[in-house]
Amino acid sequence: MNDLAGRHLVLGMTGGIAAYKTAELARRLQDHGATVQVVMTEGATHFITPVTMQALTGRPVFTDQWDARQPNNMAHIDLSRAADAIVVVPASADFIAKIAHGLCDDLLTTMCVARACPLLVVPAMNLQMWAHPATQRNARQIADDGVVVLGPASGDQACGEIGSGRMLEPDEILDDLIAFFQPKPMRGRRVLITAGPTREPIDPVRAITNHSSGKMGYAIARAAHEAGAEVTLVSGPTALATPRGVVRIDVETARQMYDVVMREVAGADCFIAVAAVADWHVIDASEHKLKKAGVGSDGPILKFAQNPDILAAVAARPTAPYCVGFAAETEDLHANAESKLARKKVQLIVGNHAHEAFGRDDNALTLYDARGRTTLERADKLVLARQLVAAIAERMATAS
Ligand code: C5P
Repeated sequence: MNDLAGRHLVLGMTGGIAAYKTAELARRLQDHGATVQVVMTEGATHFITPVTMQALTGRPVFTDQWDARQPNNMAHIDLSRAADAIVVVPASADFIAKIAHGLCDDLLTTMCVARACPLLVVPAMNLQMWAHPATQRNARQIADDGVVVLGPASGDQACGEIGSGRMLEPDEILDDLIAFFQPKPMRGRRVLITAGPTREPIDPVRAITNHSSGKMGYAIARAAHEAGAEVTLVSGPTALATPRGVVRIDVETARQMYDVVMREVAGADCFIAVAAVADWHVIDASEHKLKKAGVGSDGPILKFAQNPDILAAVAARPTAPYCVGFAAETEDLHANAESKLARKKVQLIVGNHAHEAFGRDDNALTLYDARGRTTLERADKLVLARQLVAAIAERMATAS
């Protein structure tokens, strides 16, 4: 995906063993279309060489404030003027302290103070250094000054200790950077999303489920978070990773999904029901595994009862959020989607063809609402999810 196409990033590096991960990040940023100019402190060059970073980015690396390669000898100004952001990975305690105080004693810190673009820093240090009151004070100070601080995470550290201070992984930094550059039409909104299939037990080892992969719902959760929303994702069983910044609550059955949604919906501005919820569950699922000998050669006879309609129940609440339903159909998509819009009393139905959507990485969507039909052409699910979230945000803004 070309999520960073046209973006020019200055990738600052300071002294820390996590610098080896910055090499991978430089590759990943370029895979997503960014151009990358590396600037290293003297400390960083002890952990990884400028030659490595030059080879990976195809650009000479700058380390020295007095570097004569810039014709006007003003590398600290020129390098950042062309940048969409300066991203410092890893950011040491020393670097954060300098930025907090406006110190400029090398090229990177001088660039940061002289910049006219956003600054993002990704701390990486021993847990005691991160926990030190001075570091905490400095990190708060730079955040107050408008610097975006990503992480740190908790976990195993290169020093052998375990705790907070560990640098985010390159993929996490990449996702946070992509999110940083997305428009924020959902800022301040709370969005509740259901995704994936549900699993209705027959006995402790067997269940009835469906082919929903959860990919569309997870992409929408990511896109809503990127758009600035606070997102809670209620998920049936899937093999997918939770999108960055999204709160995920796992459920198995439709009734569990109903209970969690009803608990979480208070305060939500928008509910997007993407889950392929089972319409029925097995009455009296067996507590013990059904044995062939026990049920006879015709197999077991299962009796079903209807599950609650989560979307209709949310839409019927006195203070209902803006409700979006999905219609995954194998035939008569338009007619089914339009009747669902009226029957469930929701603001928007998103239609797709089940056989062209389930399990795939791409999809095509049609939106049905009071405005009529709007088509979102076949594309990667994340691209579509961003378009859908933008369409929902615009409709919510017009409605309120
Ligand atoms: O009625 P039908 O299952 O076709 O409607 C699909 C839409 O309703 C989807 O948005 C789905 O997430 C939602 N739904 C629900 N609870 C159910 C069944 C469907 O929220 N029990």
